Order: sequence, then C-alpha cells, then structure tokens
Amino acid sequence: MTHHDFPLLQGTINGKKIVYLDSAATTQKPQIVLKGITDFYTTANANVHRGLHTLSARATAQYEAARQKIARFIGANDKEVIFVRNTTEGINLVAHAFAKSRLKKGDIIVSTVMEHHSNIVPWQLIAQETGANLCFIPITEEGLLDMQMAMELLEKKPVLLAITHVSNVLGTINPAKELIRLAHAHGTFVLVDAAQSVPHLPVNVHDLDCDFLAFSGHKMLGPTGIGVLFGKQTLLDRMHPFLGGGDMIKEVHLDKSTWNELPWKFEAGTPDIAGAIGLGIAVDYLMTKGMDNVFRHEQELLAYALQKMKGVKDVIIYGPGDATKRSGVISFNLADIHPHDLTTVMDEEGVMIRSGHHCAQPLMGALGVTATARISISVYTTKEDIDTFITALEKAQKVFRL
Ligand SMILES: Cc1ncc(COP(=O)(O)O)c(C=O)c1O
Repeated sequence: MTHHDFPLLQGTINGKKIVYLDSAATTQKPQIVLKGITDFYTTANANVHRGLHTLSARATAQYEAARQKIARFIGANDKEVIFVRNTTEGINLVAHAFAKSRLKKGDIIVSTVMEHHSNIVPWQLIAQETGANLCFIPITEEGLLDMQMAMELLEKKPVLLAITHVSNVLGTINPAKELIRLAHAHGTFVLVDAAQSVPHLPVNVHDLDCDFLAFSGHKMLGPTGIGVLFGKQTLLDRMHPFLGGGDMIKEVHLDKSTWNELPWKFEAGTPDIAGAIGLGIAVDYLMTKGMDNVFRHEQELLAYALQKMKGVKDVIIYGPGDATKRSGVISFNLADIHPHDLTTVMDEEGVMIRSGHHCAQPLMGALGVTATARISISVYTTKEDIDTFITALEKAQKVFRL
C-alpha cells in the first residue's frame, strides 16, 4: 500500500508534505480512476441506453460493465445494484419506495444512536408521514451497540432495522450479520449503511443476508456524485419507483406508465455515467489489492496510531478500547481545546484532520461532547503519516500550553 498512485498526495501545502487523514469524509483518487474518467469523456462520451450509434453503445457497455464489477465486489447480481448519488440517496430511496408503503401508525423503525444523520433524518421524515415510531439502540460505555437493548427492541417486531455497519465517529464495527439474523427472526427487514465498511473491509451482501445496503463511491477511491444501493431482487421487484422520468419506464401513456426492468426502474434520468465508470475502476483497484489486505493494512495502522496517541498527554480517545472491534477511524479530543482550533494548528503542519460533530449529533450527545477531532485511514495511509500527525499533535500541545 502506497501514496504513489495518488497524485494529490504527491503535493505540498504551505511547503509541507500533505498528510491526508480525512478519508472517512472522502478519499483521494488514484491516477487510474482520474485517467479512466478522462478516457471516457475523450473516447466514449454519449448518453446511455438511448442511442443506437457507436458512442452510445460504448458508453452503455462501460456503464453496465462498471455495474457488473461492483455487483461482483459485494456478492450481488447486476439487477440488485442501483446507481444513486451517494449513501444518503440510497437510504432515502429505501425510505420512500420501500418503507413508506409498509408503515402504518404505531409501527416501529429501529436505528441506533451511533448513526450518521443520513440514517436518522430520512426515518424521522417517514415516521412523521406515517405515524410510525422511531426507536434507537443505545451504546455501551465502550462505544459498542448495546446488544441486550437491541434484542429487546427487536422483540417488538419492528418493520425495519436501519443500522450502520461501521461508525464514522467511533470506528466501531457492528455485528451486522448477527443483528440481521436476529432481525429476520422477528420478521424485520434490514438496511445497512455501509458507507464506512465497503471501502475498508470485505463485505458480501449474500453472506450478510441484508435486505438493503448503501454506500458512496467517493469514500472508496471513486469520484463524488456516484453511490450504490443494493437491494434484494425479490424486494426491488415488488417496489414502486422512487423517482419518475426517462429511462425508468417501459411505456408512457398520458394516463399511465409501466416500469422498466431492474435495476433501471430505479435510475430515472441521465445517470452519472462517468462517475459509475470511475467507481468501477476504483473497485478494480481495490480488488487488485484484495480487501483482506486493505483491511489488514488499515488495522495495522489503526493499532499503531492508537498506541502512539495513548502516549500523548491529555489525549482523550473515543470508541472501543479493543482495536479489533474498530476500523480506521479515531475520534479524540486534546484536553478541552476546541477541535476546530486543533484542526487549524494541524493544518499549518500539512496534516488534514476533521473536527466537528461528524454529522452524528445524537452520538455526540451520548458521548457528552459537542465535537471531536477525528483522523481516518485509507489504503494510501502510511506509518509516516501517523508519525507526522503525532509530531503535529505534540506541537499543538505546546501551542496551547498544555
Ligand atoms: C456512516 C456514514 N453514513 C452515511 C454517510 C453519508 O455519505 P454521503 O454523504 O456520501 O451520502 C457518511 C458520510 O460521512 C457516513 O460516514
């Protein structure tokens, strides 16, 4: 694993080598993805599924080939891979096209307090519309899901369980497979927010047996504006479309329309063709490395970073103490220094970290803080990056006279 494939990481900022530790927000892109997007626009650009000319056939073939690669990557079939803009849109699609028609007053949707806002707000909106109740699985002191409470909530036979696979704040890897098995035993459907898992660990939807799973291309070395919703074919077949327009129809009459086959039934309008092709190349890149190796690399760096950070005075680390229960995300605070101030000092050293509530305000509340600083790791992160970060952290301590 190396920096070399990532042009942006070869650069400097303020005369300092760039150390990018904000990959959970979005990752850098390898040259091969950037080139693939340029190649598409310079050799194959045309709209998909619409034209009989050579360029349209080329664009369609590349777009559909990307879908096939992504399907293989997560163990799905092509019909089950719907291109959306991002994880957020994937979750909203499920909320509107699946959950809304099944929910009635008093029904239950279960989620967790460690969710990103994108796996809370769509459910609040749907609950308001349908009269359903939204319940949340709490976390333990250690930052794990409270499994006892999870079981108690599932016994109420909720219609849907919407859970994150990996927390974007605590790094906690949730026991998704076990939760899905428990949920199914109570007749509950499960949506997995895989924004922070698909980029970092092997994920197989067949093995998980999830009903829906959403992730974003930009967090896994692909471009922004493209994401994926997986849905079980049997469920997608029975669902109504989410958005209406071109491409998602079979026939349109003035008084009624019929729907295209899967997956196009859920892809209204011109899709992000170049984005999908770019994501397909990012998936090739990850598959060449091997997701087991990606995971191992990131786990090694995580353990290294945790151990080094524990040696820095006044650092408070959130999330599981057991490094094997978390992925490459570390939220922390330095004494009572505001994380925004810390981030500014880090930035002067060329170290890009994140600060704020990380779109997880309910989780901040559960942790008793308003904000944290956060570093996050990807395939290109190196030990040297972590060392530079630690040096910058020690420097920040001096700046703030701790
Ligand atoms: C766990 C999790 N879910 C959902 C999202 C939303 O992703 P997007 O903004 O790409 O829709 C994020 C983004 O940080 C995330 O970390």
